[in-house]
Amino acid sequence: MSGPHVVQKRHRIAYPTQIIMSHTFYLVLHIVGLVLLTSSLAGMLMHRQTGTGERPRMLAILHGVGLFLLLLAGFGMLARLGIMWPWPGWVTFKVVLFLILGGFPAFSKKFNAGIGWWVAIFLILLAAWTGITKPF
Ligand code: HEM
Repeated sequence: MSGPHVVQKRHRIAYPTQIIMSHTFYLVLHIVGLVLLTSSLAGMLMHRQTGTGERPRMLAILHGVGLFLLLLAGFGMLARLGIMWPWPGWVTFKVVLFLILGGFPAFSKKFNAGIGWWVAIFLILLAAWTGITKPF
């Protein structure tokens, strides 16, 4: 079997790599990262408000894995969208938010945990809004 017909048929096959490297796959991974990051920050704040003893290690793991997935999938999507250097403003803005959220467990100790909830929610929603609307 050879000829153009076979070649055309081959291109229609969804190879695992075609799925794994797709924009949709990265988007799902990005959202998984968002969920893990949100859970970790909520857990940390809850521990500060009502917990005793050391902060559970799981929260640091969720925080790290969540951020890693957000970054990996974020850059994956940028590649799929053909967005390269120099970045548009919204990408730079999201990277700054990413860094702030990365430092959140440390610097949020400087202020009241009750305020921390609103700061965390605001920063995460701001990053989501920026990704959806790409305002600048
Ligand atoms: C800091 C935490 C972050 C959160 C909570 C977050 C959240 C989101 C959300 C909710 C979306 C919307 C997906 C949609 O349009 O359906 C999105 C899109 C996107 N984000 Fe993020 N993001 C974060 C960080 C990043 C970073 C660091 C980058 C880049 C390195 C990035 C790059 C993107 C891209 C490229 C899109 C897709 C735009 C599109 O396909 O239209 N994000 N993000």
